[in-house]
Amino acid sequence: MLLKDKVALVTGSANGMGRSIALKFAEQGCNLIIDDLSLSASQKVADEIKALGRKAIAVKADITNSAEIEKMTQAAISEFGRIDILVNNAGGVPGTEGRGNSDNITEAEWDRVVDLNLKGPFMVTMSVLPAMKKNKYGKIIFVSSMGAVSPCVSVLHYHTAKAGILGLMKNLAFELAPQNIYVNAIVPGPIDTTFWDALAPAGPEREALFNAIAKKEIPLEKIGRPEDIAGPALFLASGLSDYVTGQIIHAAGGQPLLAHGATFNIEAYLMEKAKK
Ligand SMILES: NC(=O)c1ccc[n+]([C@@H]2O[C@H](COP(=O)([O-])OP(=O)(O)OC[C@H]3O[C@@H](n4cnc5c(N)ncnc54)[C@H](O)[C@@H]3O)[C@@H](O)[C@H]2O)c1
Repeated sequence: MLLKDKVALVTGSANGMGRSIALKFAEQGCNLIIDDLSLSASQKVADEIKALGRKAIAVKADITNSAEIEKMTQAAISEFGRIDILVNNAGGVPGTEGRGNSDNITEAEWDRVVDLNLKGPFMVTMSVLPAMKKNKYGKIIFVSSMGAVSPCVSVLHYHTAKAGILGLMKNLAFELAPQNIYVNAIVPGPIDTTFWDALAPAGPEREALFNAIAKKEIPLEKIGRPEDIAGPALFLASGLSDYVTGQIIHAAGGQPLLAHGATFNIEAYLMEKAKK
């Protein structure tokens, strides 16, 4: 077991990649703090983890709310005494009006999306770090996005925040290495989760979009599944990566290979579809 008796906090873990990461960690012996915006949704995943024979607590902490973050950290410490692993997974562009390009972005939308995708992970990390420093051990994983590296749709606030995460990761990795705290990032390509609901509703429309992306943009010619991110997360959370810090894993079907030649434009595709 790669994570026997470790304790991990995964934000946004009621759905998608976060849930998949939490379950993968539990299979490897880890106890979990499951956090999301709905307590009943967090509880469902915590129950799945308990069914695997691990300990789990469910919390409802909005990562844009520092009081709720602090309560979550305290709950984790009082239950488990420490936090070994933090996965800053919660994020996305829920409820986005328009697509965040230079014609339609607003200051309020910028603040909302940057708060969720950059300030939120920063605040969760600052809240958890004192416990890691005390134990002289920690593994922190940030979840960025290919859009931060090679955008194929204009989402200014989200992509900027996800690029900022990489700067935060590198600076923390440098600062915390002497304290035996490892900090790395995963850059996912397109992964089939509810994340995509804002762009294309589940069903035939989404399938057509996914097929077009997979064919034109992904050398492996397939859209990823949440489990495709759980594997790299396990590597970065475990002793398998004990000489790895400040690094980025692109889990994107080879997408960065096309970084300078990406030809697929999601926005143009959706506009074309809407015209038909
Ligand atoms: N799916 C993709 O194609 C893709 C690609 C690149 C990066 N990402 C990033 O991966 C991460 C996971 O996304 P996913 O695809 O699993 O999406 P998802 O929507 O399935 O899951 C995200 C979870 O985060 C929770 N969440 C949202 N805001 C929160 C908040 N303020 N506090 C606590 N929890 C909150 C949601 O309720 C949800 O359960 C996100 O950071 C997302 O931006 C996703």
